[in-house]
Amino acid sequence: MNALARASKQALQTAARGFASGAYPDRKVAVLGAAGGIGQPLSLLMKLSPYVSELALYDIAGTPGVAADVSHINSKAAVKGYAGEDQLGEALKGADVVIIPAGVPRKPGMTRDDLFKINAGIVKALVEACGKHCPKALLNIISNPVNSTVPIAAETLKRLGVYDEKRVLGVTTLDVVRAKTFYAEKAGLDVSKVDVPVVGGHAGVTILPLFSQAVPGANKLSDADIDALTAVPGANKLSDADIDALTKRTQDGGTEVVQAKAGKGSATLSMAYAGALFADACLRGLNGDPDVVECTYVASNITEVPFFSSKVKLGKNGVEQVYGLGELNDYEKAGLKAMMPELRASIEKGISFAKESQ
Ligand code: NAD
Ligand code: LMR
Repeated sequence: MNALARASKQALQTAARGFASGAYPDRKVAVLGAAGGIGQPLSLLMKLSPYVSELALYDIAGTPGVAADVSHINSKAAVKGYAGEDQLGEALKGADVVIIPAGVPRKPGMTRDDLFKINAGIVKALVEACGKHCPKALLNIISNPVNSTVPIAAETLKRLGVYDEKRVLGVTTLDVVRAKTFYAEKAGLDVSKVDVPVVGGHAGVTILPLFSQAVPGANKLSDADIDALTAVPGANKLSDADIDALTKRTQDGGTEVVQAKAGKGSATLSMAYAGALFADACLRGLNGDPDVVECTYVASNITEVPFFSSKVKLGKNGVEQVYGLGELNDYEKAGLKAMMPELRASIEKGISFAKESQ
């Protein structure tokens, strides 16, 4: 299936949330940090997912209320709340997918790396519990700094002897969601019909949208394409300056929200949407859907660093194939080179933390 058909299929599946009634295998999903800004709307969206039969909502406190509330929705998933460390094992037992948005968010003026001090330990402890109670689950790691928390998760599972690199996935879907939105808006395209790969990591310059590979290519449209795909008559051609501005806006999308929220946290609603899209993709892969491709930050050998986000095929065991970067233009090649020092340092920081804090 080509990228455009895939984007349209994904849009239809998203629209069907809560109304689809297909016969899918039983699947348990656990959300860790379920009472938080992301956790609550994400729990709501996973309750509406046709792919979930059991939903475990865990946090240090507050989850009985969230679970009671969400459980009244008349969709398939059975919901249970778990609060406090002594209930964590029960929340995780039998989970197919564990989504982790636990941890502190940024305030204006902070980088994602500033969250490392608090979130590194939180992620390590939660992943340790996953390694003990559901070692085969796919882990969807949302907690920042993702560039470091995914290596922490990998190293933690290695120490427990249960690491499988196909099952540890950093969630970078919000970068793709943003790139699609900003690109479609600028080019005058129907946003439900565009796809933009975003590669690298999830912080500042490590976020690299590949607009040269966007589908449809705004500068390559025929008249027939324009009729079929534009939201408004006449698609806009994009200049190099437009692409530079779109790239920077995608890289700074998180900061745009942090500043607008003015001390009250970072992206929660768009992140919940992105997290639900990604978890659904993992579940569709587990269920044997043959054509599930998403960008995600995983163990990778397509560049010089050991963790990298790129298009990945998701299947019955998690990551089935990590795709290469395809052809990059000179602007993107420069972006790839520029991100490497920061990305490498964040990865090494995560690995050292996990090794030193045994
Ligand atoms: P929040 O403070 O609103 O919620 C975090 C929740 O985690 C709270 O309910 C808290 O009780 C819980 N928590 C803390 N320690 C825990 C533990 N040990 N076990 C279980 N739960 C625990 O924050 P938020 O806005 O939901 O953001 C959560 C994280 O997600 C932040 O690190 C943020 O930077 C990150 N984030 C990532 C992306 C991404 O694209 N990957 C996007 C947005 C936010
Ligand atoms: C985002 O991209 O919105 C998140 O990583 C949260 C943040 O701190 O920017």
